[in-house]
Amino acid sequence: MKAFRIHQHGGPEVLKEETLPDPSPAADEAIVEVKACALNHLDLWVRKGVPGHKFPLPMIPGCDITGVVQEVGSVVRNAKPGDRVVVSPGFGCNACEACAEGNDNLCREYGIMGETRDGGCAEFVRVPSRLLIPFPEGLSFEVAAAAPLTMLTAWHMLLGRCGLRAGDDVLVHAAGSGVGSAAVQIAKLHGARVWATASTEAKRAKAVELGADAAFPYETFVEEVRKRTSKRGCDIVFEHVGAATFDGSLKCLAKGGRVVTCGATAGAEVKFDLRAVFFKSLSILGSTMGSRGELMRTMRLVGQGKLKPVVDRVMPLADLRKAHEVMEKREQFGKIVVVPK
Ligand SMILES: NC(=O)c1ccc[n+]([C@@H]2O[C@H](COP(=O)([O-])OP(=O)(O)OC[C@H]3O[C@@H](n4cnc5c(N)ncnc54)[C@H](OP(=O)(O)O)[C@@H]3O)[C@@H](O)[C@H]2O)c1
Ligand SMILES: [Zn+2]
Repeated sequence: MKAFRIHQHGGPEVLKEETLPDPSPAADEAIVEVKACALNHLDLWVRKGVPGHKFPLPMIPGCDITGVVQEVGSVVRNAKPGDRVVVSPGFGCNACEACAEGNDNLCREYGIMGETRDGGCAEFVRVPSRLLIPFPEGLSFEVAAAAPLTMLTAWHMLLGRCGLRAGDDVLVHAAGSGVGSAAVQIAKLHGARVWATASTEAKRAKAVELGADAAFPYETFVEEVRKRTSKRGCDIVFEHVGAATFDGSLKCLAKGGRVVTCGATAGAEVKFDLRAVFFKSLSILGSTMGSRGELMRTMRLVGQGKLKPVVDRVMPLADLRKAHEVMEKREQFGKIVVVPK
């Protein structure tokens, strides 16, 4: 099969197009013919490398996969050849206490396709069959692939971690990002008032089209949010930008507010005044991925058209390097999807 593999970290040139043997399944695995694979910022971290973190190289990147089951192992009961499927991007061990409690993202062995095992930037991918989840009817492979990781992450952050409620004021950073474009919709669906940030006027206009009540530049969001909330501030700030915004995110919070973060795109070292945290009874919450149950629920809502993955563009897999460059230059609004054929 054709696949892109990373043998060492670096620029887009380390994405090597190779011809590899077709994978074959273990007893509890399936082989999926990849029809579409959405990119995430994670693909950039995997490609560039993260100081202090070891990725199992060489590896095929790509975590958001849709396709058709080609072959299943001898004990697989939940899928058969010909089934259209979405592949859960994350997976726990399915045996520990965290997994048994439905907190598979807290499993000590939690992994992600294209980060801890070969992913979907290939013609075929080998996956544990429990990761195959029902395909949302009526959607194309490309649109469905744009949903799982970002919808799951944003859902878990807002509902699972922050207990979002109707009437909450929510600030979503980088509404044009994968996770941001999911968060705006999830917050609106639950009756929140949504403020957003984005770097350009065009992206801010798209954020409002997506459902945000207003969108602001990174430079002015603190004052804007204070103004729009009669100085009260937000109940929830949806963070993933990090260094460039975190201090402002805390300043935007109402008393008792929560900032929830899943990322540090602009840098992981942040500085803030601890006194604001205790005087205003703030919570700083971390979040990574979510449970398989939450993923199934979000995909059901995607199937019902209540959450709509935002596809910026679809590109041939052969142009994977170019797709990485587009993401690195922040040119996209929403998701970039690659297709092998
Ligand atoms: N822990 C988890 O489970 C989890 C899951 C998903 C994502 N994440 C993390 O969340 C972050 C977003 O992921 P994604 O896939 O949604 O990313 P993405 O689609 O590539 O979007 C990244 C966004 O960051 C914004 N940004 C703001 N300041 C930036 C700066 N100084 N440099 C670069 N970008 C800047 C860009 O804003 P503009 O559009 O305004 O230009 C862009 O929209 C990443 O750090 C990712 O690793 C974590
Ligand atoms: Zn486990």
